[in-house]
Amino acid sequence: MALLALTGASGRIATTLRPRLRAAGHRLVLCEAPGVAVADVDPGLERTVACDVRDVEAQAEAFAGADLVVHLAAHADERPWPDILSVNIDGTRAVCEAARLAGVGRLLLASSVHAAGYVPVDSPLASEGMPLPAPDTYYGVSKAALEALGGMYAGRFGMTVVSARIMNFDGSPAGPRSLQAWLSADDMARLVLAVLTTEATGHHVVWGVSRNTRRRVDLRPGLAIGFDPQDDAEAYASGVQEQDPSLPPKLLGGGFADAGYRLGEPHGGTRG
Ligand SMILES: NC(=O)c1ccc[n+]([C@@H]2O[C@H](COP(=O)([O-])OP(=O)(O)OC[C@H]3O[C@@H](n4cnc5c(N)ncnc54)[C@H](O)[C@@H]3O)[C@@H](O)[C@H]2O)c1
Repeated sequence: MALLALTGASGRIATTLRPRLRAAGHRLVLCEAPGVAVADVDPGLERTVACDVRDVEAQAEAFAGADLVVHLAAHADERPWPDILSVNIDGTRAVCEAARLAGVGRLLLASSVHAAGYVPVDSPLASEGMPLPAPDTYYGVSKAALEALGGMYAGRFGMTVVSARIMNFDGSPAGPRSLQAWLSADDMARLVLAVLTTEATGHHVVWGVSRNTRRRVDLRPGLAIGFDPQDDAEAYASGVQEQDPSLPPKLLGGGFADAGYRLGEPHGGTRG
């Protein structure tokens, strides 16, 4: 039984991870912003801590004794620059520093496909290895910064850090893009368990994606840390609208990388 600390514990990804990690026999420390409730806490296996993601001291206390910190807290969308800078960039620095102070040797950081949103879907940059950051938004810049922080903490302090460029996390694939980009809840849990047990050292950037038939990115960086996804969006393809074949090849960032998408404005109703 290991002890895992999660930031962003009431968020979508953490909520689907928790039962899977408990079922795998682990105890959890659930860190969430003050005033935000965490539902259905199992008092035998879980403990909640109210702390802001930018609070180094409180998080260092919360992370004490943990084998792995899974950092999920963020503005998980485009936002004005001051918000992104504060919560996503300062927040990630604070989580890394708190993990170091608490003596935690392993970190899984939630990066995003938007750290590399300008990479063309059909390019070898996507399909072979891992492209350099090519962020499509302020949000994407914050994920590139998260990866840089992960690299620094691994290099300087000997921590094992995995930055996962999560593509499209959902219960099931919801649109044409997700047939190639979907990350299932079970595969997300496999990723966490891989980071918990990997013998790899240093910093690794991997794709957070399932073993989708139509995926356009390389599974090998993930396999190198023991992340072997099992689910395939193709099982849902009959219920998902197909991509219009007359459209030009897209960028990995999808709508975030469109010229009409306005910087600093949350996704949804923001074109113009
Ligand atoms: N869901 C996806 O498809 C996807 C894709 C790529 C990357 N990601 C990344 O994965 C992570 C989790 O995503 P999610 O979908 O669960 O997001 P979410 O928005 O559901 O959850 C984010 C959590 O962060 C917490 N949070 C925000 N500000 C905070 C603060 N100041 N202090 C403490 N906690 C704070 C929120 O309360 C929330 O619980 C995020 O970092 C996101 O950027 C998600």
